[in-house]
Amino acid sequence: MSVPILNASGCLDALTAPEVARSLDAFVTKTVTPLPREGNPPPRIAEADHWMLNSIGLQNPGIDDWCTGSFPRLRALGVPLWVSVGGFSASDYRLVCERLNELEEVEVVELNLSCPNVDEAPETAAELVAAARAATAKPLYAKLSPATSDIAESARAVVDAGADGLSLVNTIRGLALDPETLRPRLALGPGGASGPALRPIALACIHACANAVDLPIVGMGGIASGADAIDAIAVGASAIALGTILFSDPAAPARVRAELDAEVASRGYGSAAEIRGAARGSPSTAISSSN
Ligand SMILES: Cc1cc2nc3c(=O)[nH]c(=O)nc-3n(C[C@H](O)[C@H](O)[C@H](O)COP(=O)(O)O)c2cc1C
Repeated sequence: MSVPILNASGCLDALTAPEVARSLDAFVTKTVTPLPREGNPPPRIAEADHWMLNSIGLQNPGIDDWCTGSFPRLRALGVPLWVSVGGFSASDYRLVCERLNELEEVEVVELNLSCPNVDEAPETAAELVAAARAATAKPLYAKLSPATSDIAESARAVVDAGADGLSLVNTIRGLALDPETLRPRLALGPGGASGPALRPIALACIHACANAVDLPIVGMGGIASGADAIDAIAVGASAIALGTILFSDPAAPARVRAELDAEVASRGYGSAAEIRGAARGSPSTAISSSN
């Protein structure tokens, strides 16, 4: 069995790049909220060699327009569809999940519980999952932030609240300055950091959660090659998602799959899935840090 390759939410517009969406095992939408959102003011993306910083602010058409406008066109692509859901309260999550529950072609609901660029809901992640769970029978994946002191504890809490899987990880808050003006490069100052710089952080999170709970995990965070994918699978990912790499290399899904298959064969495994958890069981928390 091969390991599915998805896109990371917000990193691919399937309607403008349908051939890229069709090269994935499932397409994950940008986060949809109850009401339309224009997002944050520009500039809201800054890039460097090893990271990208974004502060898009959950720009989306809102669930009503999404259902009538985007959904029929996404369904027509014929790619399994995951919908990312966001909001600012438990009732927001419940409302969007109720609407999605009516749409047969929506295979999975991914709960964005961790956007660093908007105000957070007052409820805990577990309470948001519980609200979504009450509204839909569809599989629910909880997307967690790496910026937490104990992500394994968060994983246990969302699993107890009814999550069927985890998506790990979202971006982590960062700041970039313009070298000339020494002012922040993004209009709102900080943004969510993604790309290769996020990879070791993501690996530690996937490792900690895979040691804590026995659920499927979509691993993401700086994955750009077959070797990166192997690492994510070895720490416990059962699927991987490509995010920032898609902006510079839209052909990454096919390339990463080919690299992954070659790595698997050269290591003498029959399939990538056999590598899952090779690093599991090893310590995932440090008692004392190295500095
Ligand atoms: C431009 C941009 C927009 C994003 N929008 C969303 C979003 O709408 N919802 C979400 O859950 N994550 C969003 N993310 C986070 C990604 O899905 C992913 O978790 C993160 O970028 C880490 O993966 P990567 O390093 O491979 O990009 C966004 C990331 C970027 C770079």
